[in-house]
Amino acid sequence: MKDIKNVEYGLEKIFEGAQDFLPLLGTDYVEFYVGNAKQAAHFYKTAFGFLSDAYKGLETGCKEYASYVLKQDKIRLVLTTPLNSKSPINEHLTKHGDGVKVIALWVEDATKSWEETTKRGAKSFMKPTIEKDEQGEVVRSGIHTYGDTIHIFVERKNYNGVFLPGYQKWESDYNPEPTGLKFIDHMVGNVGWNEMNQWVKFYEDVLGFVNFLSFDDKQIHTEYSALMSKVMSNGNGRIKFPINEPAEGKKKSQIEEYLDFYEGPGAQHIAVATDDIITTVSKLRARGVEFLSTPPEEYYKAVPQRLQAHNHKLREDIETLKGLGIMIDADEEGYLLQIFTKPVEDRPTLFFEIIQRMGARGFGAGNFKALFESIEREQEKRGTL
Ligand code: FE2
Repeated sequence: MKDIKNVEYGLEKIFEGAQDFLPLLGTDYVEFYVGNAKQAAHFYKTAFGFLSDAYKGLETGCKEYASYVLKQDKIRLVLTTPLNSKSPINEHLTKHGDGVKVIALWVEDATKSWEETTKRGAKSFMKPTIEKDEQGEVVRSGIHTYGDTIHIFVERKNYNGVFLPGYQKWESDYNPEPTGLKFIDHMVGNVGWNEMNQWVKFYEDVLGFVNFLSFDDKQIHTEYSALMSKVMSNGNGRIKFPINEPAEGKKKSQIEEYLDFYEGPGAQHIAVATDDIITTVSKLRARGVEFLSTPPEEYYKAVPQRLQAHNHKLREDIETLKGLGIMIDADEEGYLLQIFTKPVEDRPTLFFEIIQRMGARGFGAGNFKALFESIEREQEKRGTL
């Protein structure tokens, strides 16, 4: 592992070089295609503390699919399951298993967003479409990104309803406590061999993003495996999409394992922010969320030194962090606390990251080695290393 200083920082480029042809207000929702949305919704409520928000299905007159919308602070998840064998959603499920289909972006103008991106080479998924009900109207449009993943642009300034036209409020008697998850910090995509730069170019040219951090396989590797990663950000920094590709190593990298089991590129992890990771992770653990194994003793012994090297002082108790398996990384601007779940489905594909930023804007490069060794222990058990 190289020192974090080797990481190429270029945040100022975001403000200098950013294009404003696609102003993004934030992540609007993330939609998963799943085998049983009713049960998945129960899992996200019980384990992660999401709240029931909206519903569409047979009871609302939709005979094709059922969708459950869950919310926690600014995070909105949509879980969708087809209601018959003819739905095209089945193809996605058969091929990929449960996974992320849509990363929806909240915009002022969904028509202009579609025009600007398709003009620059995006493949259209959905032309600008107006949906209406008595609560007003929403305009949505969409483009394809890596694999079978889609970006939908959502314009909701003329809408007062719960989610989208056609959805009704989902009132439930079962409302477990939230766990302190606030917003999506970043969402990572895994792409195929030698495809990372092509997708970096796509986000630059088509969406006006900039590449503000890069890690090569010399920086991200263990004894056995390696990967490369480039972090893309939109102009105001609200949307961050790191993109990973596998690299050659002695054994199979986790990215390759993902590509094998997802049967192609797709969303690898969703990082959700909390402002109290100790409370959040304590609650998640108590509710049965499974995390990767805690790094070894030597890892925690080295933490004070790593923080001192950047003149930062850890505010949290290191023994508490160690007890929960939370990792610590530091850069010039501050430090961050993070932890990763095991995959949340049977295929070793999508997982979650819980992150608390204490000034640092990086992604935990100093933790990559400990993290990947932990993932490799899981791969070993699965026979996929
Ligand atoms: Fe991450």
